[in-house]
Amino acid sequence: MSSSSSSSPTPTPILRLAPSILSADFARLGEEVRAIQAAGADLVHFDVMDNHYVPNLTIGPLVCEAIRPHVTIPIDVHLMVEPVDSLIPLFAKAGANIITFHPEASKHVDRTLQLIKEHGCKAGLVLNPATSVEWLDHVMDKLDIILLMSVNPGFGGQKFIPSTLAKLRTVRQRIAAHQAQGGQPIWLEVDGGVKIDNIAEIVSAGADTCVAGSAVFSAPDPEGGYHGVMQALRRAAHPA
Ligand code: DX5
Ligand code: ZN
Repeated sequence: MSSSSSSSPTPTPILRLAPSILSADFARLGEEVRAIQAAGADLVHFDVMDNHYVPNLTIGPLVCEAIRPHVTIPIDVHLMVEPVDSLIPLFAKAGANIITFHPEASKHVDRTLQLIKEHGCKAGLVLNPATSVEWLDHVMDKLDIILLMSVNPGFGGQKFIPSTLAKLRTVRQRIAAHQAQGGQPIWLEVDGGVKIDNIAEIVSAGADTCVAGSAVFSAPDPEGGYHGVMQALRRAAHPA
């Protein structure tokens, strides 16, 4: 691919930023999601933990319904729950736009993906750091999004696991091969430990959608507020 021609400048690759409200101030959630939308967030990342599939307990469909009127950007619901299926209609009704789940937590992965789509949402699988990419093999045609965990799920503020970079490259190749055969577009999202100092290598390994929780909400007195942090992430992702 030629990228040096002055007559056809390389377009800036897509980067969607999905602040995770796990690190937001839960006492002011409406205000927080309005602020991240105003600051240029592409998605609201909504982490659902059940104290069963993961050792933590967070928020459910009632909270999704409560924040829905505060934003127009899509709500990206990440289900860290087991079992999965009974929550799908509830989140769809509560205004979710994207629903992702961990394949180990569903007895029938293909059925769960179909259920999400039947309820009008985009569907995706989430792979933990030690979960094989082979889970993708027989369901590529049903995926709108693949989410690679770059930490073990359950908590915000953990350190990025470097082996995720090789996995991102592998999955990016699989998506390219799928699309070369006429397959639908699939977003590649990464979740956990995304920061200003590692987002460039994450994006160059193939991610087009980055979750960022503590990097956005817990930045120490960010210059320019959330907008400043997100601009810094975007600038760091595509250094000149
Ligand atoms: C972890 C969650 C993440 C978390 C990311 O289980 O799925 O979405 O909020 O937080 P940071 O960006 O702080 O690692
Ligand atoms: Zn998440």
